[in-house]
Amino acid sequence: MLNQRQIIKDLLQSTAFDTEVHVKGWVQTTRMNPYIAFIALNDGSTINHLQIVADISIFGQEFIDKIKNTGTCIAVTGKLVESQGAGQRVEVQATQIELYGESDPVSYKLQAKRHSMEFMREIAHLRPRTRTFGAILRIRHTLAYAVHKYFNDNGFFYLHTPIITGSDAEGAGEMFRVTTLDPVNPPLTEDGQVDYKQDFFGKPTNLTVSGQLEGELGAMALSKIYTFGPTFRAENSNTTRHLAEFWMIEPEVAFNDLEDNMNLAEDFVKYVIGYAMEHCGDDLAFLENRLIEEEKNKKQEERSPMLLLEKLRFVLDNPFERLTYTEAVDILVKSKPAQKGQFKYPVSWGIDLQSEHERYLVEKHFKKPVILTNYPKDIKAFYMRQDDDGKTVRAMDVLFPGIGEIIGGSQREERYEKLHTRIKELHIPEESLWWYMETRQYGTAPHAGFGLGFERLVLFVTGMTNIRDVIPFPRTPQNAEF
Ligand code: 4AD
Ligand code: MG
Repeated sequence: MLNQRQIIKDLLQSTAFDTEVHVKGWVQTTRMNPYIAFIALNDGSTINHLQIVADISIFGQEFIDKIKNTGTCIAVTGKLVESQGAGQRVEVQATQIELYGESDPVSYKLQAKRHSMEFMREIAHLRPRTRTFGAILRIRHTLAYAVHKYFNDNGFFYLHTPIITGSDAEGAGEMFRVTTLDPVNPPLTEDGQVDYKQDFFGKPTNLTVSGQLEGELGAMALSKIYTFGPTFRAENSNTTRHLAEFWMIEPEVAFNDLEDNMNLAEDFVKYVIGYAMEHCGDDLAFLENRLIEEEKNKKQEERSPMLLLEKLRFVLDNPFERLTYTEAVDILVKSKPAQKGQFKYPVSWGIDLQSEHERYLVEKHFKKPVILTNYPKDIKAFYMRQDDDGKTVRAMDVLFPGIGEIIGGSQREERYEKLHTRIKELHIPEESLWWYMETRQYGTAPHAGFGLGFERLVLFVTGMTNIRDVIPFPRTPQNAEF
């Protein structure tokens, strides 16, 4: 009988009063008077709890004491009624309660009080049961769904690019090796090097840093493709915006130039944010209130100028500012912080912009998302289309308030000779990219694409401040627990 479980999200909307219902979930909190226990139950389908009313004379004090604790899992049969109390529309008068799993209130790590984000990272196996992480995970799901929906509705095909590769798409050398060789006693060649011919794939391989290169192969046949998969970077940067394992969305479109690429990026990112606003109202309202509470402890000048929903709406309603890297450097050089020596990293043409520079442009100067284009070729990857000045490439980075870079992309170098020369200049092993080069030899075409860091998007939409808090189980240097 208890198997016909109903979802709390649906029951909270239901008007089927006086019917029998069956719900299952985890106890959040319990209020009690000598006669009745009011149990707030949650099954993860919504941020809101369902109130279970249990008559102590029916169930006995001993049983109620067992099920009342935070974290306990129960199944309830009862009658759905209009709630007498304030705070909820409906409640369930329990007629039968089955105890699935007790939760000892002394040793259970997740108490019914506010825990710090740092502590919750240590209990990542339990934190999905909190309202905050429940909200984040539901929003994360909705954003992922919106990504697939956007591309499907716009004629893109989902291409599954490999996780294990032999190439380094970004050329930054930040890769995790994949091998089955014995690390203590690897086979050696005659001159004492590790003999990768005897490894599983017969050559050195690694976890991918990007699906782009294979994505380009797909675009040269299907015209419009996207990838959405895990990517891995062994960069030792312990920041609030870097993960060693993160998810990236990479569309690649034949016949698009840089302008088309910018238009696609802006339209796409606005769509998915709008989709989350439309479908995650309760969760976003909860996170917004949480931020308001948090801001109360901050000094006036540290408070954010906009509330969460206002900030999201603002991004949807305003065109992103578009300018070249050269124009941006000009603004930065003349800026107050540069004049007063307040930037940690001095600005001049040719530098890789630091997050403090990106955030100055977005948060102080333009006060909206910014797309920077035409970066110096020396700070960008080999595959970007070279500009006629010989100094810059057709790159684009989309910068967001509070985040910095959220998207990186470019028009690709489709001219064989130019690409070949660049690969040689950068000493990239040609033999590892022969297949990539062949797309430039047979039916090459102008094309462009970009990569959106999925966790950075979730960070922006949820208003969280640390990327470790928007992925269920974060992987960062020295941390692969759970
Ligand atoms: O700018 P990136 O390195 O670009 C590429 O990988 C291109 N192949 C994409 C393409 O053109 N198809 O990375 C793209 C985005 C960044 O803008 C950022 O949002 C995210 O991926 N990203 C990270 N997110 C979390 N942790 C990290 N360590 C990240 N590194 C990049
Ligand atoms: Mg980048």
